[in-house]
Amino acid sequence: MKAFAVFALGAAAASCLGSTAGAATTTAAPGAKVFADHCQVCHQAEAVGVPGQFPRLAGRAALIAAAPEGRKLLATIVLNGMSGRVNVDSQPILGVMPPLDSLSDAEAASVLTYLAGLQTEKAKPAPFKPAEIAAVRASGKLAPGQVLAQRNGLAAVRVVP
Ligand code: HEC
Repeated sequence: MKAFAVFALGAAAASCLGSTAGAATTTAAPGAKVFADHCQVCHQAEAVGVPGQFPRLAGRAALIAAAPEGRKLLATIVLNGMSGRVNVDSQPILGVMPPLDSLSDAEAASVLTYLAGLQTEKAKPAPFKPAEIAAVRASGKLAPGQVLAQRNGLAAVRVVP
């Protein structure tokens, strides 16, 4: 209910802006749509997650995207998926995320830009560029368990909260 209210408020604000700032709303839209189409079924509206089941990305993606290794990790997770145990918000998750490498570089960049803009306390990290995704794609496929090892390595040095 709360998530819906926030969404409705956002939509109302977006439609108010529509008349005066149409260009701004259309450039903000693609990442939100990619998220709704490909991620929201698990990570939930506004990427709030489900404790113990699907990681919360709102607020956390911004922190991860602040570091170069974190940006690379986010692209790696989207393109290769990830499986195994992670700790998020002090709760273990033993999950499987499928690879979403059918997304184009532009789509993956836009969804990560959208996520990195949610619940930021500091300035938003720089938008993701399609070239950042292309570079990770060109570096080759990883097994979901290898992605997990990278992710937990970066959690150990607090790039991943
Ligand atoms: C079928 C469900 C599902 C879908 C669809 C999905 N994810 Fe995930 N995602 C997960 C699960 C489960 C994990 C945790 C995997 C684990 O336990 O190793 C995860 C982990 C992540 C993480 C790492 C979080 C962390 O704390 O390490 C990111 C980033 C992420 N997903 C982004 C995305 C994005 C972006 C999309 C859409 C393009 C997406 N996910 C689609 C289920 C999903």
